[in-house]
Amino acid sequence: MKLSQSVAWQKLQAHKREIEGLQMRELFVEESDRFERFSLQWHGLLLDYSKNRITSQTMELLLELARQAGVEKKRDGMFAAECINATEGRAVLHTALRRPSGYSLKVDGLELSTEIADVLAQMKECCERVISGAWRGFTGKRMTDVVNIGIGGSDLGPFMVTEALRPFAHGQLQVHFVSNIDGTHIKETLKKLDPETTLFIIASKTFTTQETLTNAMSARGWFLTHSGDKKHIASHFVAVSTNRAKVVEFGIDEANMFRFWDWVGGRYSLWSSIGLSIALFLGFDHFQALLQGAYAMDEHFRHAPLEGNIPVLLALLGIWYNNFFATSSHAVIPYDQYLHRFPAYLQQLDMESNGKRVTCEGETVDYATGPVIWGEPGTNSQHAFFQLLHQGTSLIPADFIVPLTTQNPAGEHHDILLANCFAQTEALMKGKNEREVRLELEAAGCEESELEKLLPHKVFPGNRPTNTILLDELNPFTLGSLIAMYEHKVFVQGVIWGINSFDQWGVELGKQLAKAIFPEIQGGEPVTGHDCSTNALINAARASRSKRQ
Ligand code: F6P
Repeated sequence: MKLSQSVAWQKLQAHKREIEGLQMRELFVEESDRFERFSLQWHGLLLDYSKNRITSQTMELLLELARQAGVEKKRDGMFAAECINATEGRAVLHTALRRPSGYSLKVDGLELSTEIADVLAQMKECCERVISGAWRGFTGKRMTDVVNIGIGGSDLGPFMVTEALRPFAHGQLQVHFVSNIDGTHIKETLKKLDPETTLFIIASKTFTTQETLTNAMSARGWFLTHSGDKKHIASHFVAVSTNRAKVVEFGIDEANMFRFWDWVGGRYSLWSSIGLSIALFLGFDHFQALLQGAYAMDEHFRHAPLEGNIPVLLALLGIWYNNFFATSSHAVIPYDQYLHRFPAYLQQLDMESNGKRVTCEGETVDYATGPVIWGEPGTNSQHAFFQLLHQGTSLIPADFIVPLTTQNPAGEHHDILLANCFAQTEALMKGKNEREVRLELEAAGCEESELEKLLPHKVFPGNRPTNTILLDELNPFTLGSLIAMYEHKVFVQGVIWGINSFDQWGVELGKQLAKAIFPEIQGGEPVTGHDCSTNALINAARASRSKRQ
């Protein structure tokens, strides 16, 4: 049966019509225990979801939807290595990467815990050698800089984590990330570097990604110009990949290859050797703490009852708005400057996973799936797009993430930051009605005629939903938990929507067409084989190119 015709779905539709008119501000007045009922504390993380347009019945119906979809069974299937990524014929086992060793789980005849432990040991040894200075460059100097060349999941996760955990870095190494094919990215990065003391990590699951290989070739060329001999590549280039043959073809020594496996999806790969840049920058112990934090969340996700399960609750609340209020976008606002890349990271995690329009059975869905994920750190975003959140015509649910303590105590900064975060969720929930605006303007001595003019502009409708996620502290453990929490939220939503959250066929068409257009831009003949818009754009690029030659 189609999801939209299922009992739980229909009940939720009817319930939405019933509670549509409810105002959260009134619910808070009536229900003094609302926070206790709609919040959860877990391992230094507090989820407050009381500022949502929900009642106890809403949550019951949403949980019924989760049960109807078989979330628990599907979750257990993922952890048990079932082939849940059917369109790519793979299991989905990024969770195995953070599981303490000593368990037994086989995929393709390989014992996972042994495989994973071997690679972790290789990473640890590399970290020790590079950080201690035992790893020497072609002129005998120790490494001072690490450059991760990768894109998508081979960039966004490690980049986000190294930024988020900067205060935990040991300080012996600087880390840089090059992802964009735009030559500016590699050129500007190389300008800052000394080839004698730079270690490049070529990070690509497939080792066929055009952007990464082009950037890697440019880095290699730059390095060879300075070092003068290919034999020095071994001490300045390592690779992280599942594709041994391609790594060797590129010229990287097999001994310098850190492997991972096709059952680790790109956007779920920061826990694998793709996290080498994280481990080098922070030290291996902190990388392990990140894994431990994620594992703790895995255990919570596996064992907590659905009604007390943080990723499940977040997933259901997302579905409530996306499918029953037609919200279509979801903002993520970290109140922590170190988390400035978190929304960008989540965009790939969520949108590449759940941006699907057919079910696992290949049927076109008749309901919305993954929302647009977007956001920027607070308080900056308050001075940019919050106007629309408060008074715009769209309803946009938002997650507010804030650590209670700061790594950088500076006078009153952190209390002001917290005050702003809490004030925004209160304002979004409560709004300001006509009566309140009128009283405020009258108290300020505003003339009646002026007051009437201003009044509609100063009203805040409120009733705008938010989740607040408080962390005791942003550290490797809590960040690991936070990331895993969102991974599992995305998983649960995918299960309910009946889609495959683990493939990404939607990125292929553009890649194919770019491969065809690239030689046309360089070719001698005017291009006529596309639609007239694309022909004209290619020919404009050709004309500009020939002028420069
Ligand atoms: O753009 C699609 C994608 O395949 C992502 O899923 C992936 O994270 C990224 O490209 C990079 O792929 P690779 O690690 O194979 O270079």
